Amino acid sequence: MKIKAFSKTYNGVRVLDFPGMELQPGKIYAVIGANGSGKSTFARILAGVIQADQQGYHPHPGSVLYMPQKSYAFRMSTQANILMGSREYKKANKLMEDLQISHLALRRADKLSGGETARMALARLMMRPCELAILDEPTAAMDMESTLLAEKLITDYVPRANCALILVTHSLQQARRIADYALFFQKGALVESGPAQTVLHVPAASETKAFLDFFGS
Ligand SMILES: Nc1ncnc2c1ncn2[C@@H]1O[C@H](COP(=O)(O)OP(=O)(O)OP(=O)(O)O)[C@@H](O)[C@H]1O
Ligand SMILES: [Mg+2]
Repeated sequence: MKIKAFSKTYNGVRVLDFPGMELQPGKIYAVIGANGSGKSTFARILAGVIQADQQGYHPHPGSVLYMPQKSYAFRMSTQANILMGSREYKKANKLMEDLQISHLALRRADKLSGGETARMALARLMMRPCELAILDEPTAAMDMESTLLAEKLITDYVPRANCALILVTHSLQQARRIADYALFFQKGALVESGPAQTVLHVPAASETKAFLDFFGS
């Protein structure tokens, strides 16, 4: 799947310049970089939530799933939020079990805690088939146990759904645990991308190395 080059400018300031890349189905792509480096802007443009500078830019014609940095809960039960009109109760129940939110099934989803909401949103996303999934810091609000459950679910889902998954994360440990490839952004530029084993362990660019040295251990 080819993602074409695009840029994003706010008030005359270029906040992102993406050169384009090829994504393989069934693989996890970690996006790392400091606050404000353009990760969420990248995610939003791929998700079609905001427009790139290039008029009529379309990231991908197929099905694209998106979990924003702040997950949304509709004013109905957790189970109804996950089902979203689907009748696949078994699938929804299994996802709730896997994420340990079964006890919240009938609770109003807009009253859940941050970490519970994120788990609900992840289950909602995984109900659906997709070609491209974009998760913007899905585990930022989760505790360690939930994070590991979510990572397990993501690594099971991606090859099964044969979906290319973009995972924006602040956790290098998470990226090292589950990513196949990694992209390092700095000040809106894609500094380095490639196999996770290289980018997250023995990067080529001095900027990536400095980032890992600072945040890495
Ligand atoms: N709607 C907007 N209007 C103006 N500037 C924006 C807007 N959205 C993002 N920016 C700016 O674009 C830059 C990139 O923001 P973005 O949210 O993509 O960063 P990020 O890498 O996701 O950061 P974080 O790690 O904090 O989530 C930042 O400097 C931000 O202030
Ligand atoms: Mg962000």
